[in-house]
Amino acid sequence: MSLRSSLNASVPVAAPGEFAPVALSPELSVWPPVVLAPMAGVTNPPYRSICRQQGAGLYVAEMVHARGLAEQDSKTLGLASFGPDEAVRSIQIFGADPVAMETAARFLVEEVGAHHIDINLGCPVRKVTSKGAGSALPARPGLMREVIAATVRGAGDRPVTVKARLGLDDERMTWQDTVDVAAGEGARWISVHARTAAQLYSGQARWNVLGEIKERATIPVLGNGDIWEAFDALRMMRETGCDGVVIGRGCLGRPWLFRELAEVFDGQEPTDPPRLGEVLGILQEHAERLVDFFGERKGVLELRKWCSWYTKGFPGAAVVRGGLQSIESLEQMRGYLAQLDPDLPFPQRALRVARAKRGGSQDKVALPDGWLDLGAQEAVEQRGGRQ
Ligand SMILES: Cc1cc2nc3c(=O)[nH]c(=O)nc-3n(C[C@H](O)[C@H](O)[C@H](O)COP(=O)(O)O)c2cc1C
Repeated sequence: MSLRSSLNASVPVAAPGEFAPVALSPELSVWPPVVLAPMAGVTNPPYRSICRQQGAGLYVAEMVHARGLAEQDSKTLGLASFGPDEAVRSIQIFGADPVAMETAARFLVEEVGAHHIDINLGCPVRKVTSKGAGSALPARPGLMREVIAATVRGAGDRPVTVKARLGLDDERMTWQDTVDVAAGEGARWISVHARTAAQLYSGQARWNVLGEIKERATIPVLGNGDIWEAFDALRMMRETGCDGVVIGRGCLGRPWLFRELAEVFDGQEPTDPPRLGEVLGILQEHAERLVDFFGERKGVLELRKWCSWYTKGFPGAAVVRGGLQSIESLEQMRGYLAQLDPDLPFPQRALRVARAKRGGSQDKVALPDGWLDLGAQEAVEQRGGRQ
């Protein structure tokens, strides 16, 4: 049996016909039904190509600000770039201004050649929510409707999806409105990180709520949160009825998770994760791609966190971690990595370790003044409108 945690000891691989590709549009469907979560500072072209080499699925670029795109800000444009190997260009935008979202979506389709646009309705960070975007937007169902409609208009015939959290906090769940509005305005699927914005990354993702979302939704639902092993994806889909999964932190420094996912969804026992020597080979290639893409200086700075993620849990890695955190060149990195034993197998204890954003929660999600009152008013109007 392949390496797996006790939680997944008796989980079988997919049976023939048990799961189906998830359709984004008549031309584009995703198999296995697996999406690399958009992650700021992570899902850039170098990492997307490293993941793509391992498996299949959809690989979403990190979130970019709609207004930045609409105003042709050079840094934002850099974030919205794709490599020549990317046959499917998938990207996420955030914003609370319908006009900017429409302009950004049109720009992405017409100038960047995007095939898929995801709307961020889940980001919990102050910088985003205090402007009404990310997880703040579903608390304004009327404005959320306008934003999704405008993005769908701007994207023309290219599919638009949304990615949300369960709500602001336990008292203010927003997933019901989000599911209804997204389906009503033409989103092709909804993916949901099964935590509230107040929770950030603390506690366990509430997969049971994903089941409720699936029951309510008239569009495909993709579940997100705490998938660390390929078998977790199967368990989540079986337990919740979700149509697919979105995977974030489990892939950090573990791009072969996509190979394992492809294997289990195709009914095969997954290949064991690579030994340390092979892991370091992938890290080396990733490092070169980062330097090619960002240039030597920024590439090496970006690389520091990856060194720590790729080597997490391997015996001996803790000793070189400090050095890897302050590398100034690829050569320095190679020097530290050469001190590790390439024959070490992937450690079982490293399977379920969060490689970024482990704990912590926030008491209050930062919102613009009067946001919830406006949201309550819009909710009444929407209910009135439907009657
Ligand atoms: C470093 C980092 C950056 C993230 N950036 C984004 C982002 O740009 N857009 C987004 O929708 N979610 C973002 N997320 C959230 C993930 O997409 C995902 O919803 C979350 O990590 C939960 O999934 P997981 O348990 O598989 O990690 C980010 C998460 C991490 C760890």
